[in-house]
Amino acid sequence: SQTRLLIKNGKIVNENEITDGDIYIEDGVIKQLGRNLIIPGGTRTIDARGRYVMPGGIDPHTHFEFEFMGTKSVDDFYHGTKAAIAGGTTTIIDFAFPKPGESPLDAYHTYRLKADGKVCCDYGLHVCLTGWSDQVKKDMDLLCRDHGVNSFKLFMCYDFMVDDGELYSAFEHCKNLGAIAQVHAENGKIIIKNAEKLIAKGVTGPEGHEISRPEEVEAEAVNRACVIAKQVGSPLYVSNVTSDQSAEVISAYQSKGVIVYGEVEASSVAVVGQSNNPNLLTSPPIRSSPQAQTNLLSFLASDILQVTGSDNCTFNQSQKALGKNDFRKIPNGVNGVEDRMSVIWEKGVHAGIIDPSRFVAITSTNAAKIYNLFPRKGVIAVGSDADIVIWNANETRTISAKTHHQAVDFNVFEGMTCHGVPEYVIVNGRVCVDEGQLRVAEGHGRFIETPVFPPYVYDPEKYITLLTEHKNGTVEQNTQNFQKIHLEQYSCETPTFP
Ligand code: URP
Ligand code: ZN
Ligand code: ZN
Repeated sequence: SQTRLLIKNGKIVNENEITDGDIYIEDGVIKQLGRNLIIPGGTRTIDARGRYVMPGGIDPHTHFEFEFMGTKSVDDFYHGTKAAIAGGTTTIIDFAFPKPGESPLDAYHTYRLKADGKVCCDYGLHVCLTGWSDQVKKDMDLLCRDHGVNSFKLFMCYDFMVDDGELYSAFEHCKNLGAIAQVHAENGKIIIKNAEKLIAKGVTGPEGHEISRPEEVEAEAVNRACVIAKQVGSPLYVSNVTSDQSAEVISAYQSKGVIVYGEVEASSVAVVGQSNNPNLLTSPPIRSSPQAQTNLLSFLASDILQVTGSDNCTFNQSQKALGKNDFRKIPNGVNGVEDRMSVIWEKGVHAGIIDPSRFVAITSTNAAKIYNLFPRKGVIAVGSDADIVIWNANETRTISAKTHHQAVDFNVFEGMTCHGVPEYVIVNGRVCVDEGQLRVAEGHGRFIETPVFPPYVYDPEKYITLLTEHKNGTVEQNTQNFQKIHLEQYSCETPTFP
């Protein structure tokens, strides 16, 4: 642990530029940036010559200790955040998921208890809504007002799927609160029918999973969610985009002026199909065509999709075996919280599809903006939290369950060699990866409040009106072209920042 730190001679990469310079850190915050900084004696210096110095990754999609499909994901908030840090991720946002009969507010508290005291890096929480009622609506109000939550997730498949009316109500309330509506978009009813037919024909193995959930079944749900978001005028965040068809739907609605963001999972760009392997089973399925991976990276490069996550939801092989006679019972989910930065670098930057600044945008800055953590997180700037990764792009590492830091007993990226090694990872000013050595502190992470945005209204003329309520009670209307404020809008009302 170190309270004063100087990072010298690195290439500082932000989403908008790369500059050569030094960074001075004190008390967990970036205090100075530039050259020939005047700093106190006794400061530890790290020489980052020839290295990229980037904002630590933000993984906005993890499920630690998630009770799902009759079992529980094995990476808890300690192992999950420890692994995150080992791979260069310094903030995660997990999902508070209500158990049957539990309210969203109670689920939030359950997850705070699971996470606080265990997390090695900062974390936030999205809250999942498994239905709609006055109680849910009231809980949303309280979560936004007093609990630092600004995003709600709804599932269009699984046994807790919601219907279109519920989506409509939830999206509309998100809009009124200035919160973000998220969806897991797959048509659950079609999947049930497809799966029943496959089982009846004797297709019980894991290959049935992808067959029952083809791309168009995903794209249909993405389209439906976009239609509903447009009808009520809410922003929308589509997690786990795995196909061209879905990305094209998102692109079409973006050009209609709807604020819709798309997230791609690390596994979707780095694992090739092998749909007969239960260990690779996640939802939506990892598509079997290698072309799908390259296309997703191109959509990320061109800003049709904005964010990468891991959807880290890990089950051991013994848990995956729960579905050995019926693919519908294989717990869904794969790892990725540790390896996301490496595999996106390898498949995106090393492959020449994505430049280092765009890498920072899709692994950190955009998530910070969308979830209202920017500029505290997601950027190397004076006043920002000292969450930094020093990245050696000339070194390689080979991913393996033998060396990873997760609790799960296999790794979907097993054997993949990636350029880009996090040599130092600084978490709130503490050097947690030090010359490649991992030294985390359990409970060192904090819960980070994600404040809501000023509500806005959708205008069919491709304009968004931001309504900013001032302290004196007046409401300012600010109408701007959607294209200009896409993402940019989200820096307009950030939390007070030193
Ligand atoms: O298969 C997955 N993705 N498991 C986690 C739950 C979800 O859909 O996010
Ligand atoms: Zn999901
Ligand atoms: Zn998920």
